[in-house]
Amino acid sequence: MRTIVAGNWKMHTDASGSRALVEHLHEVVPRGASNVEVVVAPPFPFLAQVAEQTRGTRIKVAAQNCHAAEQGAFTGEVSAGMLASIGATYCLVGHSERRQYFGETDALVAKKIMTLLKHGIIPIYCCGENLTERESDRHFDVVADQMKGALGELDSVSLERVVIAYEPVWAIGTGLTASAAQAQDMHAHIRSMLRTHGDVVAATVPILYGGSCKPDNAAAIFSCPDVNGGLIGGAALVAEQFAELIRIAERVKHP
Ligand code: 13P
Repeated sequence: MRTIVAGNWKMHTDASGSRALVEHLHEVVPRGASNVEVVVAPPFPFLAQVAEQTRGTRIKVAAQNCHAAEQGAFTGEVSAGMLASIGATYCLVGHSERRQYFGETDALVAKKIMTLLKHGIIPIYCCGENLTERESDRHFDVVADQMKGALGELDSVSLERVVIAYEPVWAIGTGLTASAAQAQDMHAHIRSMLRTHGDVVAATVPILYGGSCKPDNAAAIFSCPDVNGGLIGGAALVAEQFAELIRIAERVKHP
């Protein structure tokens, strides 16, 4: 099982800032053999530039979104084929900010995932409950419904190529983070859903945690047996913090 530390830059940086951030990452991200994959997801205008800057290094590039269609009259949108052509390896889909502010549904996300897989891009499927759902003890059902809605139509060979990120909405950008027990319980729940598609799927699909993940709380979360790294927001914009999260993930030994 591979571990991934991925940085979602969201709508931050500009051309020179993103270039400088990658240069800084090249200085501080540990080199050498590692079981941890490093991914950055810059905004669209800087994706090709960052792909160029990271070519041949251990840093891989992710898009933050894509359109479900192959191509067409969709002004302002970006296709999976375009992402593949500039060397993107991953694409985030289903992020709670896309659900909340852009009305994205799991049915739409399911289509995006199909298109991405067709173009050889690995979807990082984000799921997670909001505070009301957590407080009313519906979080396991909510995440199960999201998983079924977005991934339910995939056969097991396709599912093996997906990465899942559990991001409780109440922990995103709030400074509140899930406890290690809360993270592990949900990741185990997700893992058991994956197991219904076979042991290979359950043993292959990394499940990342996201939500106010910082160097001072990451060790506890990354050590959970079903947590395979993190999807990092704020701390991914600070090269030293992101590098420290990678080092923490490298130190963690899963049983
Ligand atoms: P923060 O780490 O800033 O809470 O963001 C998490 C996130 O949404 C990553 O996709």
